[in-house]
Amino acid sequence: MRYLTINNELFIENRKKFSKQLKEKSVAIFYSADQCPRNGDQYHTFRQQSDFFYLSGIDQEKSILIIAPDHPDQSLRECLFLIKTNEKIAKWEGHKYTKQEAESTSGIKSIFWLDEFDFYLNDILSESSNVYLNRNEYPKFFPEAEEKNHREGDRLKLKFPLHNYYRSAPILATMRGVKSDIEKKLIEKACDITEKGFRQVLKTTKPAMFEFEVQAEVDYIFTKNRANGHGYAPIIASGKNACVLHYIENNDECKDGDLLLMDFGAEYANYTADMSRTIPVNGKFTERQKQCYNAVLDVFKELKKLYVKGNSSTLINQKANELMETEMVKLGLFTKKDIEMQDKDNPLYKKYFMHGVCHPIGLDVHDIGSKHRIFEPGMILTLEPGIYIEEENIGIRIENDILITDGAPVDLMKNIPIEVDEIENMMNQC
Ligand code: GLY
Ligand code: MN
Ligand code: MN
Repeated sequence: MRYLTINNELFIENRKKFSKQLKEKSVAIFYSADQCPRNGDQYHTFRQQSDFFYLSGIDQEKSILIIAPDHPDQSLRECLFLIKTNEKIAKWEGHKYTKQEAESTSGIKSIFWLDEFDFYLNDILSESSNVYLNRNEYPKFFPEAEEKNHREGDRLKLKFPLHNYYRSAPILATMRGVKSDIEKKLIEKACDITEKGFRQVLKTTKPAMFEFEVQAEVDYIFTKNRANGHGYAPIIASGKNACVLHYIENNDECKDGDLLLMDFGAEYANYTADMSRTIPVNGKFTERQKQCYNAVLDVFKELKKLYVKGNSSTLINQKANELMETEMVKLGLFTKKDIEMQDKDNPLYKKYFMHGVCHPIGLDVHDIGSKHRIFEPGMILTLEPGIYIEEENIGIRIENDILITDGAPVDLMKNIPIEVDEIENMMNQC
């Protein structure tokens, strides 16, 4: 792997905690991610299914994990099924896990080849009453293609209709919400690489560069520092493009006098950072740009204080709306009188600020978990206020990743330049 070896205690502990939450006589089955076809005979780059990785550390396609904590044969309580390599696979595709490597990566002792799966599955199911299947239950996400957990789960239910079926997703969503010490270190590493990428952008960005050239600087730094790449499609949006929230074309020229909004995060060992910064293309904010930037920065600083246990995203989003509305009045976008007259169902601030400021990160940039969950120590969430004034060619977002603790919030990106002076000084160093 490109990333350094992860202490397998992470995966051992995750399986232990997951197992404790199953009903008696249960088996849980997890499939690795699909190799997604691209076109012709090509696949998209493989990215492991996040839950599969969380429970096994195995970063290889066509893998299956079975967890059956009550199986009478202790050796069948945790089993991995992997591709059995051969000379041809080794020649054309390269190395696949040996049994020893899979064991040391995952901490699982019973490693089998895939052709033994049906045999063992039958045995394990005959000792189980309950089957836990996994699905992507991300709300408001409706992909056309069904992932392997979904397809194989449906097949299993047809073949073994008399078992009781349950969902693994809610258990995993709750577990993944609170990060262990090993996970915190991996996310910190992703944040550090992201910082390096941004510092490179500060050093190299000049008027007339294209957005994709800015991205190339980031790509280079990410890869050089052992990132798999980006945790999500990077946004490199100059001028009016910054007002398109999910702009990912990154094809336009960065013009003198424009702002450049960037939202990118390195993915290290399948864990992602999520950062946004906005800089002046020519290294100097105009007075108006500075005014708008500092309005967002002030809101950011105010909101950060609320990232403490007992609070929630709902509360933070509410507060963000209030604070941004006040700033917009100061920026002259509308008046207090306009607010009194506004349609309460469509408040004026929504024209310039239309998204939430807070989501969990981890193995996925929008990590699974209820948005109503009360903050607990170990949760890592973004803080990302913004303002988008299309008529002035101004789009600004500032985003850091914050760890909830027993005490004060810990900003995992506190060393990444954020103040106007810091950004201008770094951009103007020869
Ligand atoms: N980069 C996606 C987000 O900020 O939510
Ligand atoms: Mn982001
Ligand atoms: Mn975000």
